[in-house]
Amino acid sequence: MRGRPDRDPGTAPRRIVLIGPMAAGKSTIGSRLAAALGLTVVDTDQEFERRHGPISGVFASLGENFFREAEARIVAKALTREGVVVSLGGGAVLDAGTQQLLADEFVVYLETDAETVRPFITRDRRRPLLAENPVEAWERVYDRRRSTYERLATVTVDVTRASSRRPEAVVERIRALLDDDAAAQRGAGAETDQQTRATSRPQ
Ligand code: S3P
Repeated sequence: MRGRPDRDPGTAPRRIVLIGPMAAGKSTIGSRLAAALGLTVVDTDQEFERRHGPISGVFASLGENFFREAEARIVAKALTREGVVVSLGGGAVLDAGTQQLLADEFVVYLETDAETVRPFITRDRRRPLLAENPVEAWERVYDRRRSTYERLATVTVDVTRASSRRPEAVVERIRALLDDDAAAQRGAGAETDQQTRATSRPQ
């Protein structure tokens, strides 16, 4: 299963990575989840802005390609750190190298819809891709990326308005999924132990 290939049985993932469309709440959930688990949060958009300044200005002056290349490097570096929750910008998953790296990560996809994010994007000056007709632009971009999010996800968490999208509730759901994952890992470990005992038993 995705995000679980080279872990020792029963151990927690080295990192938790949040993906999903713009305004799904990745930054908020990332910092709340990190606080709840005693981990450090790395927000790749914030890292980018620390180094290069506001994303919208960089899109305007240096172009989206510059942003994407820098973003891919920041993501790759973040994915070398241990004990972190990494929140990715919504488009970071488009990069082929990032997709490869995510195959080995515990990836939480925050799934949402236009009705839920509408209040957060209608007067958004921070997101260059939503500068005009933000709701339609958001839907168009999400439609194009949805299958990529689904493919990369280890687990999917519904953060639509219809579900309980309070940050505390979302964090609790992610913690429960992590517990399930740890239990599944222990189960897999026990199976491997049994197989080892079976094959090493004296004939
Ligand atoms: C983008 C999402 C933004 C930011 C940039 C581009 C995208 O991050 O990285 O504006 O392509 O979806 P959020 O997902 O945090 O809004």
